[in-house]
Amino acid sequence: MGARRVSVHGEWSSRLAFVLAATGSAVGLGNIWKFPYMAGENGGGAFVLVYLLCVACVGVPVMMAEVLLGRRGRRNPLETMATLAREEGRSAHWRWLGGMGIVAAFLILSFYSVIAGWTLAYVFRTAGGVFDGATATTVNRVFAALVADPERLLAWHTIFMGMTMIVVARGVRGGLERAVRFLMPALFVLLIVLVGYALNSGRFDEGLRFLFAPDFGRLTAAVVLAAVGQAFFSLSLGMGAIMIYGSYLPHGASIARTSMTVAAADTAVALLAGLAIFPILFAEGLHPDQGPSLIFKALPLAFGHMPGGAFFGTLFFVLLVFAAWTSAISLLEPPVTWLVENRGMSRVRATVWAGVVTWLLGLCTVFSFNLWSGWRPLAAVPGFAAKGVFDIIDFFGSDVLLPLGGLLISVFAGWVMARASSAEELGLGESPGYRVWRFLVRYVTPAGIGAVFLFRLKDALAS
Ligand code: TRP
Repeated sequence: MGARRVSVHGEWSSRLAFVLAATGSAVGLGNIWKFPYMAGENGGGAFVLVYLLCVACVGVPVMMAEVLLGRRGRRNPLETMATLAREEGRSAHWRWLGGMGIVAAFLILSFYSVIAGWTLAYVFRTAGGVFDGATATTVNRVFAALVADPERLLAWHTIFMGMTMIVVARGVRGGLERAVRFLMPALFVLLIVLVGYALNSGRFDEGLRFLFAPDFGRLTAAVVLAAVGQAFFSLSLGMGAIMIYGSYLPHGASIARTSMTVAAADTAVALLAGLAIFPILFAEGLHPDQGPSLIFKALPLAFGHMPGGAFFGTLFFVLLVFAAWTSAISLLEPPVTWLVENRGMSRVRATVWAGVVTWLLGLCTVFSFNLWSGWRPLAAVPGFAAKGVFDIIDFFGSDVLLPLGGLLISVFAGWVMARASSAEELGLGESPGYRVWRFLVRYVTPAGIGAVFLFRLKDALAS
């Protein structure tokens, strides 16, 4: 029976350990690097509003579904889906949902590692005082010089992948718990310091308005899809990372409470990052529409001007590296557990394989910012005319595979699984909370994601 299965990779020492690990997975570049630039590109308030709605109505129920599937299956995503489907008397082809997640993990980690490499590089730039008294011109130049150099990007990407592989090869439970317990609160405090600085930048109101006053004229299907994709990305949902972490969760821990805690922490960090960054941006006369370089320009400007900026800046980028690290670990874990359980590899060997494949794929992102920066591989496809290689990998990983994975996870948890099974695993009985969850995963999540995909398709075909 599902209730008795245990994971061959062990278990978290407590519910808190799971909360910390899942928060470590969720809080990362998605919150501090991606959320602000996505909000900036998609017009601010309207995007943020849709994002918050997605986190509450789609993110939390899907997270609960992922944790419950993981804890019941206790295997890598492929085997978990196959086992649970068989148990419910359904087709073992559901394993391909897990397979899709593993593809998404490779795609996402491949670019994630490159961007995390930028944060590593910025630790040294900031510590070296490069940004003391910096102007917009300086920060633009420093950023352009970094990404224009494929060798440097490659070196940082390699270092970051190496760091991630070391932890995964040794098993994720030991160090992760300890690291997250101290680093996450520290990151939180530093973000608050930054928001405090932004408060005095003179443009706080403007930043606040940009983030929270929705301009519904900007609400297109593409913006809504971007918000859905971002919610999945930021919460680490839709590909089995949370499923894997759920498979190490001890029985008896409340899945609902745990998921809400993780989602709340993740959202708080994203909003704080937005509140820190936009006022600074406006004060410096930079456009919110900078794309992936946004925080690498806005934050150095702030650090360059505040007292003790080199110190705070260095500390900030160090913490960001750690946040990215704990997220990258959760991206590498699903492919590795699959290789261990299904291909009979040792953990070390599996990590090397998965790591090297990801590293190679990462070269596409490395070159996307320099050698291939003018290349628009899908220029002929409607809606892709402006997308470079990195944008395309990100789009398929984050905006297509993650929401699709989330949709199928909901369908599985809400429709395929017997009511008795999910009620038992969530441990909520037939309470109102359980009914709300079941309604959300059966109707709201699939219909919402499905509608967004259809509208997006219609938009793309019309353009
Ligand atoms: N959520 C992480 C972030 O915000 C990234 C991440 C980790 C992730 N694991 C994931 C994204 C699984 C999607 C799926 O930075």
